[in-house]
Amino acid sequence: MRNESTPRILSQDDTGVIREYRGRGIATALKLKISEYALKNGYSTIKTRNDSTNAPMLAVNTKLGFQRKVGWIMMEKTLPPDRMENETRASKPGHN
Ligand SMILES: CC(C)(COP(=O)(O)OP(=O)(O)OC[C@H]1O[C@@H](n2cnc3c(N)ncnc32)[C@H](O)[C@@H]1OP(=O)(O)O)[C@@H](O)C(=O)NCCC(=O)NCCS
Repeated sequence: MRNESTPRILSQDDTGVIREYRGRGIATALKLKISEYALKNGYSTIKTRNDSTNAPMLAVNTKLGFQRKVGWIMMEKTLPPDRMENETRASKPGHN
């Protein structure tokens, strides 16, 4: 995908191979094709995102020379239903 504000960066996500065909080098071959396409079309960088727990995708990307950059961390807080009302009240002016 080309972003007009960064025309020399190719963004590529959502690599997927049907389960029965995994482990045969298909994702590696697809990503090599993308590198070829990027080189032929004047891109200087390819960016991709990788779930930190997705070992096969990390293996493919690392093998092909992608380097880890600073990432976003997903954070989540589970609110007990009975406390939600109290927290909402506390966040309003006059409550602390
Ligand atoms: C990730 C995915 C695309 C890989 O496709 P694939 O065609 O099986 O990949 P390849 O066969 O080219 O390479 C897989 C590599 O992962 C390695 N690998 C597999 N499981 C691994 C594990 N648990 N730990 C470390 N490496 C692992 C394999 O050894 C292989 O590396 P090698 O060629 O150096 O031996 C495929 O598993 C998939 O479609 N997953 C579901 C969708 C997904 O998660 N997509 C990525 C996020 S967008």
